[in-house]
Amino acid sequence: MFFVRTASERDLAKVSALLGETWHATYDTLYGVEKVAELTAKWHSVPALKARLARKNAEFVVADNGKDIGGMAYAAMSETLKKGAILHQLYVLPKFQRQGIGRDMFAELETCFPDAEFMQLEVEPENHAAVAFYEAHGFVKIGETANCGDGQSGIPAIIMEKPLG
Ligand SMILES: CC(C)(COP(=O)(O)OP(=O)(O)OC[C@H]1O[C@@H](n2cnc3c(N)ncnc32)[C@H](O)[C@@H]1OP(=O)(O)O)[C@@H](O)C(=O)NCCC(=O)NCCS
Repeated sequence: MFFVRTASERDLAKVSALLGETWHATYDTLYGVEKVAELTAKWHSVPALKARLARKNAEFVVADNGKDIGGMAYAAMSETLKKGAILHQLYVLPKFQRQGIGRDMFAELETCFPDAEFMQLEVEPENHAAVAFYEAHGFVKIGETANCGDGQSGIPAIIMEKPLG
């Protein structure tokens, strides 16, 4: 039985490993193993995660069953969009997917931003499971970007949004 709780620094090595495994399982066929390895090394290192954990106006949660970390999710108030929160990451280890962990983590994050009127995210258009998950949780497509994540990643994404409150 997994429960959702706030992440702490001692979870970060496990979260980094979870992200590496889940990214390869999700994106290798879309971007190739090398590109995934490059991006996951850059974005999911323990120092990169530590910076996220330290950020104000942000929530970093994990799903814990007392033995394993089965999922992680991270959202923060937007620095550019007024009254908007951004869902940056939502990942469940492949072996634990489709058991309600994503739903439970999202339910927690959705309640963490009383000042936000909407939540936005970017998702790979070919990631049909994630798009289905977000549609099931009230997100609708509002646009597209050629560079998901930071700078010039070269990764296309659709932008989805959900009203909050
Ligand atoms: C997308 C993801 C976070 C969903 O988490 P999860 O724990 O597997 O999903 P849940 O069990 O909470 O699913 C809740 C609902 O979302 C929808 N859903 C989830 N996975 C789905 C899939 N593969 N296909 C269709 N619908 C799906 C369903 O409506 C589901 O409800 P149901 O199981 O009662 O039908 C998870 O599958 C994941 O980590 N995928 C790989 C990484 C990823 O793509 N992350 C998002 C990046 S933007």
